[in-house]
Amino acid sequence: MQDFHYSNGTFYAEGVSLNDIHEQYSTPCFIYSRAAIERQWGLYNDAFGDRNHCICYAVKANGNIAILNLLARLGSGFDIVSVGELQRVIKAGGDPGKVVFSGVGKRPDEIRAALQAGVKCLNVESISELTVINDIAGDMQCKAPVSLRINPDVDPLTHPYISTGLKENKFGISYEEAEAVYSQASCLSHIEVVGIDCHIGSQITDMDPYLDAMDKLISLVNLLSDKGIQIQHVDLGGGLGINYKDEAPPSPDEFVSAICGKMKDSNIEILIEPGRSIVGNAGLLLSQVLYIKQNGDKNFAIIDAAMNDLIRPVLYDAWQKIVPVNEVSEVEEKQYDIVGPVCESGDFLGLDRSLSISEGDTIAILGVGAYGFVMSSNYNARPRAAEIMVDGDEVYEIQRRETLEDLYEREMILP
Ligand code: LLP
Repeated sequence: MQDFHYSNGTFYAEGVSLNDIHEQYSTPCFIYSRAAIERQWGLYNDAFGDRNHCICYAVKANGNIAILNLLARLGSGFDIVSVGELQRVIKAGGDPGKVVFSGVGKRPDEIRAALQAGVKCLNVESISELTVINDIAGDMQCKAPVSLRINPDVDPLTHPYISTGLKENKFGISYEEAEAVYSQASCLSHIEVVGIDCHIGSQITDMDPYLDAMDKLISLVNLLSDKGIQIQHVDLGGGLGINYKDEAPPSPDEFVSAICGKMKDSNIEILIEPGRSIVGNAGLLLSQVLYIKQNGDKNFAIIDAAMNDLIRPVLYDAWQKIVPVNEVSEVEEKQYDIVGPVCESGDFLGLDRSLSISEGDTIAILGVGAYGFVMSSNYNARPRAAEIMVDGDEVYEIQRRETLEDLYEREMILP
């Protein structure tokens, strides 16, 4: 069965009509396909085969504990960037021993929590951070497993806000300094050097930047080995793109085959940190058209989802496919800007879309499983949407819609 498809004119998630979900859970709500998530993870895992590897799903893409739990059941590892994400992984039954902790600004309490939990490694981004980790591990009388995040200075050819592996980005330790920092790390008494990593960007649709980055990491691994520093794993980060409109990224299988090809003479463990390519196309946002209006020549469909639910269109100029839930419509097709109720002109989910829709119709915004709900906010005092998981003919609410009371539950009035 296809994850999302039309059947007799109605849009379905696996075996469930979106009209039924609308009736039961109202809108806006995020709807995920379990089969899609598990299939994408499986494509990566199958491609590695017997090769020594660990797939560390990037929790930031979608951290709902139901999703983390499904991946944990498959044996996934996780890439985290905060103690909040660590706690989610543990709550979802993930193995901390398969967790890598990335990020440029880990607080001391987060480093301590990660060491206490027994993470696989901390991906270190600066000498200052290395020193702090060494001190904390000293206090805790343990050795901290670390990998150095190298900035390979390759252009991932993606949107500048999600490009991370160029010299001018804040991320990683420069390639030129890497050898010296490794030497320094290997002399620290509470640091155990275990790996090397990079993450060059997100929504990457070309294999070449990865292969260039991989070449640079491998040459460092060899250089370090000559100096007596043995690297146990190479982590290539995440970032593989998905098809939103007409992009043609390599498949997980092509991606894994290409990187494994670069390391076929070595048994060093390979790690990857995919987020978007596992959950991105496994989720949609269901919304209802509130009003249709015309200002001059321009048609607007005002829907009940907004930029607070999905920030990607305005933040990255992202194009998300929008389809009507019920295909057949009497009304004439027109070009619409699909906008939300938020008081900003940047509050759009799609511009110039040809649709035949009327007030009261439901629409689905596709490809929002990654960086959708996780980037949502309460701007304009809008409760965050419900999240629903479909599994065959079954429907599960995996996060209830926020209530109005939830919005000020932690606020306090002065005496
Ligand atoms: N590893 C690290 C260290 C990362 O920083 C990221 C994403 C990933 C892995 C996962 O990358 P993915 O496979 O999901 O591309 N909000 C933006 C994307 C930001 C990505 C940040 N880092 C968007 O909506 O396009």
